[in-house]
Amino acid sequence: MPNFESDILLLESIHSSADGVLIDEGLRIARAVGSLEGDELVARLATTRMVGIRSKTQLTRETLAQASHLQCIGCFCIGTNQVDLEAAAEHGITVFNSPFSNTRSVAEMTLAEIIALHRRLFDRSMRLHQGHWDKSATAAHEVRGRTLGIVGYGHIGSQISVLAESLGMRVLYHDILPVMPMGNARACSDLGELLERSDIVTLHVPETEGTRHLIGAAELERMKPGAALINNARGSVVDLSALRTALEARTIGGAAIDVYPEEPRSNTVDFECPLAGLDNVILTPHIGGSTEEAQEQIAAEVAVKIARFDATGTTTSSVNIPEVELPVRPPDQVRILHFHRNVPGVLSKMHAIIAEHEVNITAEYLRTTGGLSYVIMDCGRLKGTDALQRLESLDETIRMRVLRPD
Ligand code: NAI
Repeated sequence: MPNFESDILLLESIHSSADGVLIDEGLRIARAVGSLEGDELVARLATTRMVGIRSKTQLTRETLAQASHLQCIGCFCIGTNQVDLEAAAEHGITVFNSPFSNTRSVAEMTLAEIIALHRRLFDRSMRLHQGHWDKSATAAHEVRGRTLGIVGYGHIGSQISVLAESLGMRVLYHDILPVMPMGNARACSDLGELLERSDIVTLHVPETEGTRHLIGAAELERMKPGAALINNARGSVVDLSALRTALEARTIGGAAIDVYPEEPRSNTVDFECPLAGLDNVILTPHIGGSTEEAQEQIAAEVAVKIARFDATGTTTSSVNIPEVELPVRPPDQVRILHFHRNVPGVLSKMHAIIAEHEVNITAEYLRTTGGLSYVIMDCGRLKGTDALQRLESLDETIRMRVLRPD
């Protein structure tokens, strides 16, 4: 491995809370403002062991094939669509992300929208901006005592449940898994029951085949007359044209939408939404999780995963590599981190090579997923480089890294 000027390249203005964690582990950081692409990206990746990106940098199969020294990618964000995860695994490159650091941010925005929709705050504000004084209590409600229906009771849904109860709301939820209620929340037997009983429905499910158009014309019809809908989950979950029809017919009283079936890739692209211009509809540009606090937490969380991977080989919570939780390497031991194709016989070949050097294997860890196997061996000091070279040049080897005593 060449001695590069830095260990990790951080792109796209990753929050500085990553730096302290990485520096404490002795890692040298290089930064580039914004994302990189094309030849410039390939050139920078060729001289780094690890890279940190957010959602803009595209790490395609072609790009990764040219990043021969890259060991680890930190996605300092929630999604990992910008990385070809399969290609990364084929090269033994470990990918981490931060799936839950912005849970609280989404929950708080949803709470704000629940109140704003009940009071028609956006309508009133828009009208006053246009010079209309419209003081009236009609169709304005307190949220206390109203029923909130949460669809998807995972990290975000369950947090909203707690916050909504503290405002005096009744909480119902529906999840495909049998999840425990928080506080006094009640599980509904099915989605239909939740839709029929809720004054406001908020969606917090993932994007799957099963959640595509989970809310369409039939589901909107089952909702209470005048009830409101919030979608801060994924754009595919709601049929927006059916929602527009229901809003125009006033069978649905309001909506807040943060996510869309197709979203612009940058802030400079114009955006048209089928719900634009309707009363009591809050439209936001996928900002549910976008707070400075979330960015800070994401940076710290991913930096910790990278630092542990670099120091020990731990791949816990990687999105593409077999997960192995490793203890700190004993100071007098060599640790061999070996990614190889998952075919029979590799382990015995590795054992034979080490046995020939009359060195003890003191600990061994193994995990496989599909075609990939990750083996970690702690052993005594190996004389010379012969054993390591032979391990690295096994036909099945994808990538090998060695942590040595100082
Ligand atoms: P999570 O994985 O913790 O919870 C999702 C829950 O939905 C799980 O309990 C799951 O069993 C349940 N579920 C799956 N399919 C279902 C179905 N058909 N019906 C009912 N329940 C179902 O996920 P988390 O972190 O709570 O995120 C929820 C959604 O929020 C995701 O789509 C995520 O992408 C989105 N999100 C949006 C953000 C934004 O900026 N607007 C930021 C962060 C997350």
